Amino acid sequence: MAWRIPSSRALRRAQAAAERAALEANLATYSHLGEREYVNGAPHLKHASIGAIHRALVFEAIWAVGRDPDEISVLDLGAGNGLGSIPWFRRRVRLTAVDSSEAMMDQLRKRASRFGLQPRTVVADVFDYLTSTQATFDVITHVSMLHHIPDYLELLRHSAAHVRPGGALLTFQDPLRYDEMPAPHRMADRASYFAWRLGQGNYKRGLKTRWRRIRGVYSTTEAVDFDEYHVVRNGVDSQAIARQLSQDFAEVKVIPYWSTYSAPLQWLGEQAGLASSFAILATGRQPVAREEVIPMSAQAE
Ligand SMILES: C[S@@+](CC[C@H](N)C(=O)[O-])C[C@H]1O[C@@H](n2cnc3c(N)ncnc32)[C@H](O)[C@@H]1O
Repeated sequence: MAWRIPSSRALRRAQAAAERAALEANLATYSHLGEREYVNGAPHLKHASIGAIHRALVFEAIWAVGRDPDEISVLDLGAGNGLGSIPWFRRRVRLTAVDSSEAMMDQLRKRASRFGLQPRTVVADVFDYLTSTQATFDVITHVSMLHHIPDYLELLRHSAAHVRPGGALLTFQDPLRYDEMPAPHRMADRASYFAWRLGQGNYKRGLKTRWRRIRGVYSTTEAVDFDEYHVVRNGVDSQAIARQLSQDFAEVKVIPYWSTYSAPLQWLGEQAGLASSFAILATGRQPVAREEVIPMSAQAE
Protein backbone atom coordinates (compact mmCIF):
# COMPACT_ATOMS: atom_id res chain seq x y z
CA MET A 1 0.00 0.00 0.00
CA ALA A 2 1.33 3.45 -0.90
CA TRP A 3 1.58 5.94 2.00
CA ARG A 4 0.40 9.48 1.34
CA ILE A 5 1.58 12.47 3.35
CA PRO A 6 -1.58 14.10 4.81
CA SER A 7 -2.37 17.51 3.31
CA SER A 8 -1.98 20.58 5.52
CA ARG A 9 -5.77 20.98 5.48
CA ALA A 10 -6.21 17.38 6.77
CA LEU A 11 -3.62 18.08 9.49
CA ARG A 12 -5.44 21.28 10.50
CA ARG A 13 -8.75 19.36 10.67
CA ALA A 14 -7.16 16.64 12.84
CA GLN A 15 -5.63 19.31 15.10
CA ALA A 16 -8.99 21.09 15.47
CA ALA A 17 -10.68 17.76 16.33
CA ALA A 18 -8.01 17.06 18.99
CA GLU A 19 -8.47 20.56 20.50
CA ARG A 20 -12.26 20.02 20.64
CA ALA A 21 -11.94 16.55 22.22
CA ALA A 22 -9.46 17.86 24.83
CA LEU A 23 -11.68 20.83 25.69
CA GLU A 24 -14.79 18.63 26.05
CA ALA A 25 -12.87 16.14 28.22
CA ASN A 26 -11.62 18.99 30.42
CA LEU A 27 -15.15 20.38 30.74
CA ALA A 28 -16.42 16.93 31.75
CA THR A 29 -13.62 16.44 34.30
CA TYR A 30 -13.37 19.86 35.93
CA SER A 31 -17.07 20.73 36.11
CA HIS A 32 -17.64 18.42 39.07
CA LEU A 33 -14.25 17.71 40.61
CA GLY A 34 -14.20 17.93 44.43
CA GLU A 35 -11.27 19.73 46.05
CA ARG A 36 -9.85 16.59 47.71
CA GLU A 37 -9.77 14.68 44.43
CA TYR A 38 -8.33 17.74 42.68
CA VAL A 39 -5.44 18.08 45.15
CA ASN A 40 -4.83 14.31 45.22
CA GLY A 41 -4.07 14.45 41.49
CA ALA A 42 -1.97 17.64 41.71
CA PRO A 43 1.57 17.10 43.10
CA HIS A 44 2.31 20.85 42.90
CA LEU A 45 -0.54 21.57 45.33
CA LYS A 46 0.11 18.53 47.53
CA HIS A 47 3.86 18.76 48.14
CA ALA A 48 5.32 21.83 49.88
CA SER A 49 8.65 21.37 48.06
CA ILE A 50 7.04 21.83 44.62
CA GLY A 51 4.88 24.72 45.92
CA ALA A 52 8.13 26.39 47.05
CA ILE A 53 9.58 26.20 43.50
CA HIS A 54 6.40 27.80 42.15
CA ARG A 55 6.44 30.57 44.78
CA ALA A 56 10.10 31.35 44.01
CA LEU A 57 9.26 31.67 40.29
CA VAL A 58 6.31 33.96 41.03
CA PHE A 59 8.65 36.22 43.05
CA GLU A 60 11.21 36.13 40.25
CA ALA A 61 8.62 37.06 37.62
CA ILE A 62 7.44 40.01 39.76
CA TRP A 63 11.02 41.07 40.37
CA ALA A 64 11.77 40.89 36.63
CA VAL A 65 8.84 43.19 35.83
CA GLY A 66 10.32 45.60 38.36
CA ARG A 67 7.22 47.29 39.77
CA ASP A 68 5.22 46.96 42.98
CA PRO A 69 3.12 43.76 42.84
CA ASP A 70 -0.16 45.67 43.26
CA GLU A 71 0.65 47.54 40.04
CA ILE A 72 1.34 44.36 38.07
CA SER A 73 -1.33 42.74 35.88
CA VAL A 74 -1.24 38.95 35.69
CA LEU A 75 -3.20 36.67 33.37
CA ASP A 76 -3.64 33.17 34.81
CA LEU A 77 -4.65 30.81 31.98
CA GLY A 78 -6.40 27.59 33.07
CA ALA A 79 -6.47 28.96 36.61
CA GLY A 80 -8.76 26.24 37.97
CA ASN A 81 -10.13 26.68 41.48
CA GLY A 82 -7.43 29.19 42.43
CA LEU A 83 -5.27 26.91 44.60
CA GLY A 84 -2.43 27.42 42.12
CA SER A 85 -3.07 31.19 42.13
CA ILE A 86 -2.48 31.63 45.87
CA PRO A 87 1.11 32.95 45.45
CA TRP A 88 -0.36 35.70 43.23
CA PHE A 89 -3.19 36.39 45.71
CA ARG A 90 -0.61 36.76 48.49
CA ARG A 91 1.30 39.36 46.45
CA ARG A 92 -1.99 41.17 45.68
CA VAL A 93 -1.34 41.53 41.95
CA ARG A 94 -4.15 42.55 39.57
CA LEU A 95 -5.27 39.10 38.45
CA THR A 96 -7.37 38.02 35.49
CA ALA A 97 -8.21 34.30 35.63
CA VAL A 98 -9.44 32.31 32.64
CA ASP A 99 -10.79 28.77 32.74
CA SER A 100 -13.22 26.75 30.64
CA SER A 101 -14.96 25.46 33.79
CA GLU A 102 -17.53 27.73 35.40
CA ALA A 103 -17.45 25.67 38.62
CA MET A 104 -13.68 26.21 38.89
CA MET A 105 -14.02 29.97 38.35
CA ASP A 106 -16.71 30.16 41.07
CA GLN A 107 -14.34 28.45 43.51
CA LEU A 108 -11.47 30.76 42.49
CA ARG A 109 -13.61 33.83 43.18
CA LYS A 110 -14.53 32.49 46.64
CA ARG A 111 -10.91 31.68 47.43
CA ALA A 112 -9.73 35.13 46.29
CA SER A 113 -12.39 36.82 48.42
CA ARG A 114 -10.76 35.23 51.51
CA PHE A 115 -7.72 37.35 50.60
CA GLY A 116 -9.98 40.38 50.21
CA LEU A 117 -9.52 40.28 46.43
CA GLN A 118 -11.90 40.38 43.48
CA PRO A 119 -10.00 39.12 40.45
CA ARG A 120 -11.55 39.36 37.01
CA THR A 121 -12.73 35.88 36.00
CA VAL A 122 -13.51 34.74 32.48
CA VAL A 123 -15.17 31.41 31.66
CA ALA A 124 -13.79 30.58 28.21
CA ASP A 125 -11.51 28.37 26.18
CA VAL A 126 -8.07 29.98 26.40
CA PHE A 127 -7.75 30.24 22.61
CA ASP A 128 -11.16 31.94 22.33
CA TYR A 129 -10.20 34.36 25.10
CA LEU A 130 -6.78 35.26 23.66
CA THR A 131 -8.09 35.75 20.12
CA SER A 132 -11.02 37.87 21.32
CA THR A 133 -9.04 40.43 23.32
CA GLN A 134 -6.26 42.90 22.70
CA ALA A 135 -5.55 43.26 26.41
CA THR A 136 -1.91 42.92 27.41
CA PHE A 137 -0.44 41.84 30.75
CA ASP A 138 2.83 42.13 32.66
CA VAL A 139 2.87 38.41 33.38
CA ILE A 140 1.05 35.49 31.78
CA THR A 141 1.11 32.24 33.70
CA HIS A 142 0.09 28.65 32.87
CA VAL A 143 0.17 26.26 35.83
CA SER A 144 -0.46 22.57 35.20
CA MET A 145 -2.04 23.76 32.00
CA LEU A 146 0.05 23.25 28.85
CA HIS A 147 -0.26 19.47 28.96
CA HIS A 148 -4.05 19.85 28.62
CA ILE A 149 -3.67 21.64 25.27
CA PRO A 150 -2.90 19.57 22.13
CA ASP A 151 -1.10 22.47 20.36
CA TYR A 152 0.60 24.09 23.36
CA LEU A 153 3.18 25.83 21.15
CA GLU A 154 0.33 27.64 19.39
CA LEU A 155 -1.16 28.59 22.78
CA LEU A 156 2.21 30.01 23.85
CA ARG A 157 2.47 31.98 20.59
CA HIS A 158 -0.85 33.62 21.49
CA SER A 159 0.14 34.09 25.13
CA ALA A 160 3.49 35.70 24.26
CA ALA A 161 1.71 38.19 21.98
CA HIS A 162 -0.28 39.41 25.01
CA VAL A 163 2.74 40.01 27.26
CA ARG A 164 3.72 43.67 27.54
CA PRO A 165 7.26 44.72 26.67
CA GLY A 166 9.49 43.99 29.67
CA GLY A 167 6.98 41.42 30.93
CA ALA A 168 7.30 37.73 31.77
CA LEU A 169 5.74 34.40 30.83
CA LEU A 170 5.67 31.48 33.23
CA THR A 171 4.78 27.83 32.69
CA PHE A 172 4.80 25.38 35.60
CA GLN A 173 4.07 21.71 36.31
CA ASP A 174 4.18 19.96 32.97
CA PRO A 175 5.73 16.54 32.36
CA LEU A 176 9.09 16.47 30.55
CA ARG A 177 9.05 14.85 27.12
CA TYR A 178 9.14 11.11 27.86
CA ASP A 179 11.22 9.94 24.91
CA GLU A 180 13.97 12.42 25.84
CA MET A 181 14.10 11.69 29.58
CA PRO A 182 17.15 9.73 30.74
CA ALA A 183 16.00 6.09 31.14
CA PRO A 184 16.52 5.87 34.95
CA HIS A 185 14.40 9.02 35.48
CA ARG A 186 11.64 7.75 33.25
CA MET A 187 11.68 4.32 34.92
CA ALA A 188 11.53 5.92 38.40
CA ASP A 189 8.66 8.14 37.19
CA ARG A 190 6.66 5.15 35.91
CA ALA A 191 7.42 3.02 38.99
CA SER A 192 6.35 5.88 41.31
CA TYR A 193 3.13 6.34 39.38
CA PHE A 194 2.19 2.66 39.49
CA ALA A 195 3.09 2.37 43.20
CA TRP A 196 0.75 5.30 43.95
CA ARG A 197 -1.95 4.03 41.56
CA LEU A 198 -2.10 0.70 43.44
CA GLY A 199 -3.44 2.56 46.48
CA GLN A 200 -6.17 4.37 44.54
CA GLY A 201 -8.62 1.48 43.91
CA ASN A 202 -10.87 1.37 40.81
CA TYR A 203 -8.69 -1.37 39.36
CA LYS A 204 -11.04 -2.55 36.60
CA ARG A 205 -11.11 0.91 35.10
CA GLY A 206 -7.33 1.24 35.57
CA LEU A 207 -6.71 -2.03 33.73
CA LYS A 208 -8.97 -0.99 30.83
CA THR A 209 -7.08 2.31 30.54
CA ARG A 210 -3.74 0.48 30.65
CA TRP A 211 -4.87 -1.85 27.85
CA ARG A 212 -5.76 1.16 25.68
CA ARG A 213 -2.38 2.75 26.46
CA ILE A 214 -0.49 -0.43 25.48
CA ARG A 215 -2.31 -0.48 22.13
CA GLY A 216 -1.91 3.30 21.63
CA VAL A 217 -5.71 3.70 21.44
CA TYR A 218 -7.35 6.99 22.52
CA SER A 219 -11.12 6.91 22.89
CA THR A 220 -13.09 10.16 22.64
CA THR A 221 -15.70 8.64 24.97
CA GLU A 222 -13.08 8.33 27.74
CA ALA A 223 -12.27 11.73 29.30
CA VAL A 224 -9.00 10.31 30.76
CA ASP A 225 -7.68 9.81 27.21
CA PHE A 226 -8.07 13.50 26.37
CA ASP A 227 -8.22 15.71 29.49
CA GLU A 228 -4.54 15.40 30.46
CA TYR A 229 -3.74 15.22 26.76
CA HIS A 230 0.08 15.10 26.78
CA VAL A 231 0.41 13.22 30.08
CA VAL A 232 -1.02 10.13 28.35
CA ARG A 233 0.98 10.73 25.17
CA ASN A 234 4.63 11.85 25.11
CA GLY A 235 4.89 14.61 27.74
CA VAL A 236 5.62 18.23 26.82
CA ASP A 237 8.60 19.41 24.77
CA SER A 238 10.37 21.88 27.09
CA GLN A 239 13.17 22.50 24.59
CA ALA A 240 10.79 23.37 21.74
CA ILE A 241 9.01 25.80 24.09
CA ALA A 242 12.31 27.36 25.17
CA ARG A 243 13.40 27.79 21.52
CA GLN A 244 10.10 29.43 20.60
CA LEU A 245 10.07 31.78 23.61
CA SER A 246 13.70 32.79 22.97
CA GLN A 247 12.49 34.61 19.85
CA ASP A 248 10.41 37.00 21.99
CA PHE A 249 12.07 37.15 25.42
CA ALA A 250 15.55 38.31 26.48
CA GLU A 251 16.01 35.40 28.89
CA VAL A 252 14.40 31.95 28.98
CA LYS A 253 15.10 29.52 31.81
CA VAL A 254 14.02 25.86 31.88
CA ILE A 255 13.76 24.49 35.43
CA PRO A 256 13.45 20.67 35.63
CA TYR A 257 12.30 19.13 38.91
CA TRP A 258 10.88 15.91 40.35
CA SER A 259 7.14 15.56 40.71
CA THR A 260 5.15 12.51 41.66
CA TYR A 261 1.92 11.79 43.53
CA SER A 262 3.04 9.97 46.69
CA ALA A 263 4.73 12.05 49.42
CA PRO A 264 7.46 9.49 50.37
CA LEU A 265 8.31 8.90 46.69
CA GLN A 266 8.40 12.67 46.15
CA TRP A 267 10.97 12.92 48.94
CA LEU A 268 13.00 9.97 47.61
CA GLY A 269 13.07 11.32 44.04
CA GLU A 270 14.24 14.72 45.28
CA GLN A 271 17.05 13.10 47.31
CA ALA A 272 18.09 11.14 44.21
CA GLY A 273 18.14 14.30 42.06
CA LEU A 274 15.56 12.96 39.60
CA ALA A 275 13.54 15.14 37.22
CA SER A 276 10.16 14.39 35.65
CA SER A 277 8.53 17.82 35.25
CA PHE A 278 9.55 21.32 34.34
CA ALA A 279 8.84 25.02 34.65
CA ILE A 280 9.86 27.75 32.22
CA LEU A 281 10.34 31.38 33.12
CA ALA A 282 10.78 33.77 30.21
CA THR A 283 11.57 37.37 31.15
CA GLY A 284 12.27 40.63 29.33
CA ARG A 285 9.56 40.50 26.65
CA GLN A 286 10.96 42.31 23.62
CA PRO A 287 8.82 44.98 22.01
CA VAL A 288 7.32 43.72 18.74
CA ALA A 289 5.02 45.02 16.04
CA ARG A 290 1.89 43.50 17.63
CA GLU A 291 2.17 45.56 20.81
CA GLU A 292 2.68 48.68 18.75
CA VAL A 293 -0.79 48.24 17.21
CA ILE A 294 -2.58 47.55 20.51
CA PRO A 295 -4.00 50.88 21.66
CA MET A 296 -3.08 51.79 25.24
CA SER A 297 -6.79 52.07 26.06
CA ALA A 298 -7.16 48.31 25.40
CA GLN A 299 -4.40 47.36 27.84
CA ALA A 300 -5.44 45.55 31.03
CA GLU A 301 -5.53 47.48 34.28
C1 LIG B 1 -4.84 20.75 36.25
S1 LIG B 1 -5.91 22.09 36.26
C2 LIG B 1 -4.81 23.36 36.82
C3 LIG B 1 -5.51 24.47 37.51
C4 LIG B 1 -4.63 25.47 38.23
N1 LIG B 1 -3.82 26.21 37.28
C5 LIG B 1 -3.78 24.81 39.27
O1 LIG B 1 -2.60 24.70 39.10
O2 LIG B 1 -4.33 24.39 40.29
C6 LIG B 1 -6.12 22.53 34.55
C7 LIG B 1 -7.18 23.59 34.34
O3 LIG B 1 -7.16 23.98 32.98
C8 LIG B 1 -8.49 24.18 32.55
N2 LIG B 1 -8.49 24.03 31.08
C9 LIG B 1 -8.16 22.95 30.35
N3 LIG B 1 -8.26 23.21 29.03
C10 LIG B 1 -8.67 24.49 28.92
C11 LIG B 1 -8.94 25.34 27.83
N4 LIG B 1 -8.80 24.93 26.57
N5 LIG B 1 -9.33 26.60 28.09
C12 LIG B 1 -9.48 27.05 29.37
N6 LIG B 1 -9.21 26.29 30.45
C13 LIG B 1 -8.81 25.02 30.23
C14 LIG B 1 -9.29 23.12 33.29
O4 LIG B 1 -10.66 23.45 33.37
C15 LIG B 1 -8.59 23.11 34.64
O5 LIG B 1 -9.21 23.98 35.56
